[in-house]
Amino acid sequence: MHHFLYRNNELYCEDVPIRMIAEKVGTPFYLYSHATLKRHFLIFNEAFEGIERLVCFSAKANTNLAVLKLFESLGGGLDIVSGGELYRGLKAGFSPDRIVYSGVGKRVDEIDYALDAGILMFNVESLEELELIDKRAGLLKTKAPVSIRVNPDVDPKTHPYISTGLKKNKFGIDTETAIQAYRFASKLENIDVTGIDCHIGSQITEAKPFMEALESLNALIDELKQMGIEIRYLDMGGGLGITYNDESPPHPREYARAIVAALKGSHLKLILEPGRVIVGNAGILVTRVLYRKSGKVKEFVIADAGMNDLMRPTLYDAFHAIEPVVATENKTITADVVGPICETGDFLALDRKIPDVKKGDLLVVMSAGAYGFTMSSNYCSRPKAAEVMVKDNRFHVVKARQNYEDLVVGESIPPFFDD
Ligand code: LLP
Repeated sequence: MHHFLYRNNELYCEDVPIRMIAEKVGTPFYLYSHATLKRHFLIFNEAFEGIERLVCFSAKANTNLAVLKLFESLGGGLDIVSGGELYRGLKAGFSPDRIVYSGVGKRVDEIDYALDAGILMFNVESLEELELIDKRAGLLKTKAPVSIRVNPDVDPKTHPYISTGLKKNKFGIDTETAIQAYRFASKLENIDVTGIDCHIGSQITEAKPFMEALESLNALIDELKQMGIEIRYLDMGGGLGITYNDESPPHPREYARAIVAALKGSHLKLILEPGRVIVGNAGILVTRVLYRKSGKVKEFVIADAGMNDLMRPTLYDAFHAIEPVVATENKTITADVVGPICETGDFLALDRKIPDVKKGDLLVVMSAGAYGFTMSSNYCSRPKAAEVMVKDNRFHVVKARQNYEDLVVGESIPPFFDD
């Protein structure tokens, strides 16, 4: 059941007309469907039925506290990559032993924070990081649970900016060095070697790269066994893609079936770090048309949301469908849908066939629930958009729109200006 649907030519989120929210909240705003978030999480989690697993939602895709709280209440864990995400996770009520911490650049204060909180596991990405975690754990008189993030050198066949498991990528430790890392880690006094981890990329639309990665991890696990290193967790990372346009990624059930088959009855607890597949199509960005303008060679629709709100089209040339909130006319135009930012790269869509909208009309940018708000910025001093969640016939502002005051929080004029 899809939860962004037209009724009498008007787009609803569940049982709430989007136009009504826009009138109350103003534009632009991100809009999330509670039913869709919940359904996506449950489908993913239940796809691994019968397998001991923990679905750690990847916070970076959508860090709103309400979104995190929902997944927490559904029995999820959390995949974090910073102290800030740990803070949010704990604030949303995640038990620390359901939090895994990935990322190539963990700072000392972040490591201490995670050790102090007592997280489930650090996914370690370098030998130097391993040494540092050992040292900090010693100082804090604790043991750090650690898995090594392996870079299995597989091609995820996705946008180069979001592929992470190739030799040339900065992520993880190559399979040969990983063995060394395990040997080293097993000798460190304050490290508890508990798992193995990989994450090969994002928006992956076929099962094969995951299978290749798993094969390489399985070989490593066997090698570790021979070395006398017994681990408990196998973290497959995230990366399963979604349909933005005409992609047809494997259904989570298909993805799960392939992974479970490749596990061959292993007793390891499976950890998964899905982000996009859970939230991507559970959220949209709602924007209002400010102006129409006909250039010499192009038609422009100027919206009040831009690359500061949704970075993906600019950064990855990503496709996001654009739909009208009120679908009345059949007439279409081919236009660039652009934002108010002073950059040529500020667009939501290029040469896109859309309805013949006019000044004041509302448009929605689809599939914006993942890496939408979290990647937004204050560029050109534009306050960040509001975030709204709908459940049935109710809506709630889960993050207030920023105001001008918010823009200058923490800024001050140095006293030496008065010298
Ligand atoms: N685990 C780790 C260690 C990750 O680095 C990521 C994403 C995930 C899990 C979740 O991946 P997902 O299931 O969402 O594919 N900003 C880009 C995506 C960057 C993904 C970074 N890492 C975009 O908008 O497409």
